[in-house]
Amino acid sequence: MTECRKNEGQKHHHGGRSSERILDKNEILANLSIMPGQVVLDAGCGNGYMAKEFAKLSGEGGAVYALDPDAEAIDILQAKMAGTNIEAFVGDITEETRLGESSLDLIYLCTVIHGFSEKQMEGFLKEVKRLLKPGGRLAVVEIKKEETRFGPPLKIRFSPEELKQAISLTPTSLIDIGQAFYMQIFEMSKG
Ligand SMILES: C[S@@+](CC[C@H](N)C(=O)[O-])C[C@H]1O[C@@H](n2cnc3c(N)ncnc32)[C@H](O)[C@@H]1O
Repeated sequence: MTECRKNEGQKHHHGGRSSERILDKNEILANLSIMPGQVVLDAGCGNGYMAKEFAKLSGEGGAVYALDPDAEAIDILQAKMAGTNIEAFVGDITEETRLGESSLDLIYLCTVIHGFSEKQMEGFLKEVKRLLKPGGRLAVVEIKKEETRFGPPLKIRFSPEELKQAISLTPTSLIDIGQAFYMQIFEMSKG
């Protein structure tokens, strides 16, 4: 992997920062092709604005999980999600969650993984591989590794190439999302 991005044990907390106003969610959704009946996890969901979009696409036959270590964000989301197919809960995607093995079609993370330490990245990959169905997908949205008016320090950002090195799944597509972001999609092996 690239240099160590964070000291072990240091908390990655964004104080409620959301990408909602700076990302084109329609561009992301168009490239995710979520089908009715699919089961999707928004990991590091923050205010859950994408989980709500995923729920519209996966429909009544599908399910959406929204996970974040920030209990306050999850409390707010839970209150709004009653009666929908979104289940929001406090959790950490770098550790084993309470979701079942091979239960997910898609895991989505937006501006989350640049904060992981190497140890957290290991735990993250282990959990992603446990959770995805064969052929399931991991979609990672990150800010480009170049000067921007906002975003984390350059040295902790991932370039798409660095992301491919760090994530031991098959990369299937790389899409520019506006000027400052990209989305890279990976696939779990089918066999
Ligand atoms: C910059 S915010 C992005 C929130 C949301 N994905 C968005 O695009 O608006 C990063 C989020 O990742 C969450 N996070 C940090 N470490 C995490 C971990 N180990 N597992 C899951 N979520 C984590 C934070 O609590 C925060 O809500």
